[in-house]
Amino acid sequence: MLKFIKNLNGHSGCEISLFKDENKFFVRKKSSSKEYNLRLKKQFIKQSKYDLKIAKTPKIYGYGYDKDLFFFDMEYVQSIAFCEYINTIKITELVDYIKMLFKSLPINKSIKNQYVNNIFRQKISNLNKIIFNKNTTIKYVFELLNKTDWNGVLQSPSHGDLTLENIMISTDNKLYLIDFLDTFFSSWIIDLAKIFQDLEIKWSFRNIGPDTNRDLRLLIAKETISEMIKSLPDGENILLLIYKILLLNLVRIIPYLKDKKTEIFLYSGIENTINIIKNMEAKNENSYYSMCR
Ligand SMILES: Nc1ncnc2c1ncn2[C@@H]1O[C@H](COP(=O)(O)OP(=O)(O)O)[C@@H](O)[C@H]1O
Ligand SMILES: [Mg+2]
Repeated sequence: MLKFIKNLNGHSGCEISLFKDENKFFVRKKSSSKEYNLRLKKQFIKQSKYDLKIAKTPKIYGYGYDKDLFFFDMEYVQSIAFCEYINTIKITELVDYIKMLFKSLPINKSIKNQYVNNIFRQKISNLNKIIFNKNTTIKYVFELLNKTDWNGVLQSPSHGDLTLENIMISTDNKLYLIDFLDTFFSSWIIDLAKIFQDLEIKWSFRNIGPDTNRDLRLLIAKETISEMIKSLPDGENILLLIYKILLLNLVRIIPYLKDKKTEIFLYSGIENTINIIKNMEAKNENSYYSMCR
């Protein structure tokens, strides 16, 4: 006998419900509309194919349609979202989870895509067309993005929407990734930019306000992951690219802005990211000149 237990909440509008079938719990994620079916189907395919070491993903049990709405069933993982756990997590434990997350990235599956610059340019140009009334900040952002060389963005399998809300920590201390998303370019570097949207800009916490304990932990997480990125070959450049992708991601939110409060939060995040990029570039230039001397 299939028994409905409770609804789980997300952001996409999908219906996420916990069921019990005989003695087994499972989660059903169902599309909110026919138009959303394709997106959820792509998520389901991405999640089914996901097979990386360390971080796990809930096992898929099946899929189907309920009155024309696509759904899929998956393993129920007893867990807490990283964005909730981070308020109280022990610092040593936090550093361990961040290292675990970093080691889960499919860096060794990276390949160069010769069209990456074209793909990014197209994305930026489309975005430029749909943002009207650009202020000086946004004009500057487009200049910066247009002159960026995106060749360092390696192609690899990816999650697609790696926010702290979509990373779960299970009761047996494992990392689970949920809520995959099909994206314009698949790369672990873009996944890191999404994590920085929470670690640096605190996007997932925008409606909650500051919290000293949480903000300290976000800072430690950011520093830990930044150091790991810098230790990679071409790491300094990858970190700079991550901040530029973060800037692109933030500007992509502009067309969806609905209220003044979010707009102020977003613009402050954009200014903040521009300053970080400027500082990083100035530092790189200084070290270049000191090398030439
Ligand atoms: N397999 C699962 N096991 C346990 N909880 C889950 C599972 N899938 C989703 N959830 C819970 O439901 C919430 C929303 O799921 P998610 O897939 O991220 O939806 P949305 O696309 O709406 O953001 C998650 O934050 C988590 O708390
Ligand atoms: Mg989600």
